[in-house]
Amino acid sequence: MGRRPMKPRRVAVIGFGAIAGELVETLRSPHEPEYEVLVWLRPGSPSRERVPAGVAVAESATELSAFAPDLVVEAAGHGAVREQVSEALALGLPVLVSSIGALHDQALMSRLVETAKAHGGRLLLASGALGALDYVRAVRSARELELTYESRKPPAAWAKELEALGQDPQAVAAPLTLFEGTAREAAAAYPQNLNVAAALALAGPGFEATRVSVVCDPEARGNTHVVKAQSEFGTMQVAIANRPSPTNPKSSWIVGRSLLAAIDQYFSPVMML
Ligand SMILES: NC(=O)c1ccc[n+]([C@@H]2O[C@H](COP(=O)([O-])OP(=O)(O)OC[C@H]3O[C@@H](n4cnc5c(N)ncnc54)[C@H](O)[C@@H]3O)[C@@H](O)[C@H]2O)c1
Repeated sequence: MGRRPMKPRRVAVIGFGAIAGELVETLRSPHEPEYEVLVWLRPGSPSRERVPAGVAVAESATELSAFAPDLVVEAAGHGAVREQVSEALALGLPVLVSSIGALHDQALMSRLVETAKAHGGRLLLASGALGALDYVRAVRSARELELTYESRKPPAAWAKELEALGQDPQAVAAPLTLFEGTAREAAAAYPQNLNVAAALALAGPGFEATRVSVVCDPEARGNTHVVKAQSEFGTMQVAIANRPSPTNPKSSWIVGRSLLAAIDQYFSPVMML
């Protein structure tokens, strides 16, 4: 008896910016499994005209529901986590979230978890620009755990912050620590850097027990993340140097690929946890 061809997996992507645009393009390219893609935009969004022909667009939860997605993916920003992610969970759908920084808001996090529980949906958190979250999950309840995250970028990336401190970005000659504190404090001070720190905090011992530092370094090339975990089980140190996305220098290029890997994994008969 011949094998029946698998039905395409139905994926709804929230937003159509740098990451979502690249992700939609890759999901539509020849791929195993095959994907059918819908883009979920805010009503009247100017992004609509950039959505390729042949890709369905939804502008409401009702239209999303009519598409009957197998998975919803957010790559749109913190506002979308508060709005569309919440609506998709209320429809009982699994939602892969990249704007994890939004979850430092405890009230929002609890509301999303309760909605998922009540309707049978799932909140899936993407590792995004970071790696090694599997190890961090394994040591999360170690007694002697010290977990630190450092974000290091060149002065051009911190122009606004340096000016607020009365420093000339052109004149920074040596590494300068701009922030040191908990992942929750970092959320308030540097929201655009928190997606990665928040992912680490949620994989690990939480927002209070995860230490974050933000360094401006004239020698830094690109956006580097250093994660160190030390506990009675041993030590881990990971350094990642990400190149910026060609279409949005604030986002790391790898994020679209990281989401694709997570989506493939979600539908795969073999799962690496
Ligand atoms: N986890 C990570 O490592 C990581 C890394 C980079 C970016 N991100 C997240 O991904 C998001 C997108 O990044 P990007 O580089 O594509 O940004 P971008 O600015 O290029 O695109 C964001 C797009 O989303 C749209 N949008 C905003 N709110 C929306 C909503 N409520 N509904 C539908 N569309 C909405 C915007 O109009 C825009 O087109 C970032 O805001 C960030 O939170 C996560």
